[in-house]
Amino acid sequence: VETISDTLIHALQSRYATKRFDPSFSISQENLHLLKESIRLAPSAFGLQLWKVFLIRTPEFRKKMTEAAHNQPQFMEASELFLFCRPEKITEDLIDQFVTSVSKIRNQPKSTLVAYRQMLSGLIHNIESSEQGTWMEKQIYIALGSLLQSAALLQLDACPIEGFNHNAVDSFLGLPEKGYRSVVACAMGKRSPEDAYASAAKVRYSEEVVFGIL
Ligand SMILES: Cc1cc2nc3c(=O)[nH]c(=O)nc-3n(C[C@H](O)[C@H](O)[C@H](O)COP(=O)(O)O)c2cc1C
Repeated sequence: VETISDTLIHALQSRYATKRFDPSFSISQENLHLLKESIRLAPSAFGLQLWKVFLIRTPEFRKKMTEAAHNQPQFMEASELFLFCRPEKITEDLIDQFVTSVSKIRNQPKSTLVAYRQMLSGLIHNIESSEQGTWMEKQIYIALGSLLQSAALLQLDACPIEGFNHNAVDSFLGLPEKGYRSVVACAMGKRSPEDAYASAAKVRYSEEVVFGIL
């Protein structure tokens, strides 16, 4: 019987940044739901969830993304393509949306959340506006990590992809009009037997190098 420890270490060791996907493979609805849950349930600062994830399925968009990414084949061949985006800026409306959601889900009248809302708004205003984008992006990378980990446990293959022309992609997807900016993509599916990277040894520093005790 495989223990949870075995399952975990095997998942961590066997995942790799997949370059070539099997284009005939489709992620099941059940697994797609679990992958979405791993993003949706990810932690974020104050729980604000300042993200929006688009599943890019239109072949024309996939093709244009390939061109905007030095022809990386993952965009066309992967079963699903997640595009993590962040709002252009943190607006009072976004804070309201969150406080309304706290009020509904925790059954707390909005009148009892006034001070809480003010605190959130104050903390966010304390972040320089030029830093707010980076701050939102940090949260998105946590959700990306959660997605990658879940994919590995579900024995799916994935590739996080930052190497694309963000301005070009945002523009043909119409993201500025929707108030979003792309941050990072993640291609997901099954590795192709032709992917040479699958058998390359992992390059990682040793435990002694990575960790210290203070
Ligand atoms: C934020 C981020 C962006 C990445 N962007 C790309 C990319 O654009 N193209 C690519 O092929 N791999 C990309 N990678 C994959 C890394 O190159 C890969 O994770 C790293 O070399 C370690 O190898 P492994 O994931 O196979 O263990 C990215 C990884 C991360 C975490």
